[in-house]
Amino acid sequence: MSDAAVSAPVFSTVAEGDLSLDDHEAIASMLAQAFPSYDHWYLSARSWAGMQPERRVIARVDDVVVAHAGLRRQFVAVGTTDLLVAAVGMVAVSPDVQKTGLGAELLRHVDTALTDLRVPFGVLETGEAVQGFYRSAGWLPLERDGLPITGHFTAFSADGAGVLVTQQEGWLAREGTSALAEWPEGVLHWNGQMV
Ligand SMILES: CC(C)(COP(=O)(O)OP(=O)(O)OC[C@H]1O[C@@H](n2cnc3c(N)ncnc32)[C@H](O)[C@@H]1OP(=O)(O)O)[C@@H](O)C(=O)NCCC(=O)NCCS
Repeated sequence: MSDAAVSAPVFSTVAEGDLSLDDHEAIASMLAQAFPSYDHWYLSARSWAGMQPERRVIARVDDVVVAHAGLRRQFVAVGTTDLLVAAVGMVAVSPDVQKTGLGAELLRHVDTALTDLRVPFGVLETGEAVQGFYRSAGWLPLERDGLPITGHFTAFSADGAGVLVTQQEGWLAREGTSALAEWPEGVLHWNGQMV
């Protein structure tokens, strides 16, 4: 077991502009390990894959980042409504210390960050395999008449090319200043990359 697994991690929530080059490198290093299929994106100090976040929730043991989430406020289109949301992404725990409750603690700090950002909703999109993780922390599936909503976003690409992706399930929301019942009707158009 690594040292990171035996010392208590210290959480902080940091504005993007306050991160140093060392911080970006430490975050990118952990994200490359947690998302091995995407490690060609998290190179050197590039600590984001799609949209760069505006705030990070970071847990460290000494200088080592062991958990991370990124948040960014933005307007998205839902039907005919322009809706302010906070995108949440790059949610990860270092493989050394996964399944020890750190992910759940990370999401509690994300909740606090969402409250501080005063947004109606936090939003993320995820595969079926990890939906249980988010649901157990209070994230709710975005549905209309019992069916998952459809959303379009621009896929991440390290070289800058953008490809429109349609995702017909896996959209989750965390209630912020609005209740889920207030989510507008219609197809979600992210109109850009997600965090
Ligand atoms: C997903 C991830 C962040 C979970 O972190 P973790 O520290 O292992 O999770 P925890 O130990 O805090 O588990 C919290 C709860 O979520 C559940 N959970 C964890 N991973 C899960 C998964 N993949 N699927 C379903 N439930 C999961 C746990 O069983 C636990 O539930 P409980 O409280 O009822 O026991 C971590 O596995 C990870 O970094 N994975 C790789 C990156 C990734 O897939 N990120 C999500 C991208 S959308």
